[in-house]
Amino acid sequence: MAERKGKFIVFEGLDGSGKSTQIKRAEAYISGKGFDVVRMSEPQEDRPTGKLLREILSGKEKSDPRLPAAMFAADRIDHITRKGGIAELLSDGKYVLSDRFYISSYAYNSLYTDLDWVMALNSQAAAICRPDLHIFIDVPVDVSLSRLANRKSKEIYERRGMLEKIYANYHRVIDMLSGVENIAVIDGRGDQAEVFGQVKKAIDSV
Ligand SMILES: Nc1ncnc2c1ncn2[C@@H]1O[C@H](COP(=O)(O)OP(=O)(O)O)[C@@H](O)[C@H]1O
Ligand SMILES: [Mg+2]
Repeated sequence: MAERKGKFIVFEGLDGSGKSTQIKRAEAYISGKGFDVVRMSEPQEDRPTGKLLREILSGKEKSDPRLPAAMFAADRIDHITRKGGIAELLSDGKYVLSDRFYISSYAYNSLYTDLDWVMALNSQAAAICRPDLHIFIDVPVDVSLSRLANRKSKEIYERRGMLEKIYANYHRVIDMLSGVENIAVIDGRGDQAEVFGQVKKAIDSV
């Protein structure tokens, strides 16, 4: 990968934790400081890999759980390396904010498959495009569920038992990666402005 001039910041957390909300604020904050900012998300919406993944996640297509794990890794490699992708944006000096990246794979895909294998699948993404910062918005499952109550479509991951396991997985992998990845764990229970105060501090630290 070409030299990185911009910064790559990833937002992680359960569905309903406030990622989309905080990413929008972060975008306004960073662009207010005079930087070019691009917002990305996974799975990608406009790419074949992402479209297939969304069908699998909706539960319409039944599949072996190793398939979404492999597809997420494939979609991520495309996300990084495609024309206009993360690597190109970073070498152009842009700030890139991504709604989810490989820590999501570790937390979600390892529910049904081996974590070491999921990490191996993502080792190239980590090697060529390690984020400068992961911001994990930490909210308990009850908070996530109450914030999701209004949402129309529920993906297969959004059931309580599963959310509890994903939440535990997130903390397990964050502990495991503490020497390798730069991860800010942020208390997401406060109001949006309170949470953003913490997000801002993390952004200012990179
Ligand atoms: N700090 C907060 N306090 C209360 N509600 C919030 C907060 N942050 C986000 N919300 C609301 O919770 C819901 C989920 O937030 P969202 O940003 O979409 O989460 P995510 O992108 O992580 O799924 C939305 O309706 C949003 O307006
Ligand atoms: Mg969102």
